[in-house]
Amino acid sequence: MTDTWTIHHGDALTVLPTLPTGSVDAVITDPPYNSGGRTPAAKRGDTARGKYVSGDALHDLADFAGDNRDQRGYRYWLALLLCESLRITRPGGSALVFTDWAQLPATSDALQAAGWIWRGIIPWHKPISRPQKDGFKRECEYVLWASHGEPYRHAPTVYLPGYLRASQPRGDKRKHITQKPVEIMRELVKIAPEGGVVLDPFAGAGSTGEAALAEGRRFVGVEVTKHYADVARERLATLH
Ligand SMILES: C[S@@+](CC[C@H](N)C(=O)[O-])C[C@H]1O[C@@H](n2cnc3c(N)ncnc32)[C@H](O)[C@@H]1O
Repeated sequence: MTDTWTIHHGDALTVLPTLPTGSVDAVITDPPYNSGGRTPAAKRGDTARGKYVSGDALHDLADFAGDNRDQRGYRYWLALLLCESLRITRPGGSALVFTDWAQLPATSDALQAAGWIWRGIIPWHKPISRPQKDGFKRECEYVLWASHGEPYRHAPTVYLPGYLRASQPRGDKRKHITQKPVEIMRELVKIAPEGGVVLDPFAGAGSTGEAALAEGRRFVGVEVTKHYADVARERLATLH
């Protein structure tokens, strides 16, 4: 923990209620998608590694918690967390929430049920993705954009992309099973003003935090899996 970043190790459901109202400028997060599995039993019965890591993956990264809800449970749980996130975000601030094709409807429902105003979808195109036999390649994930009331005006005005393109990190840079590329996170954190605070309730290996620090924003992260809370702290400590 420094004056520019903090990683809380714990369940976001218990940590978020301890954070002050209106204390952050944006919530930028990549929740466990609770996807991958066509039936509720399949979603509940496998680990995150089992669902998201293919047999030919060139890494042996640690599993993570929180990826075994069925779709109804996921929508309800995410709405609770996004409701607390709304309280912590100052009026005019934004939420940017990652999802995949299967959980897009549940995620947009949860955002709106929590009181956020849904404003758009930013597709994230992953050039390195597996082909789909006799079907369409699933080479995009999505970032849902929502605001706490009317979005505030940046000064000077910012113009942000409507589409993101980058592959997941490989080799030494790969720290988490579902890690997001820092290049795209650096675009997303610009929704918060310079010097502002970005909150990520599902911090993983700290990619949002690295991007926030690189772009002159401060960072508050929450991560329930101890291994990844440690990875995120070590990563941010090398930057600041
Ligand atoms: C999709 S990953 C985030 C990966 C991150 N964006 C990165 O690039 O490293 C979701 C993370 O949320 C964490 N998580 C799951 N349930 C949680 C909870 N209730 N509170 C806090 N963190 C949780 C998991 O341990 C996992 O590391």
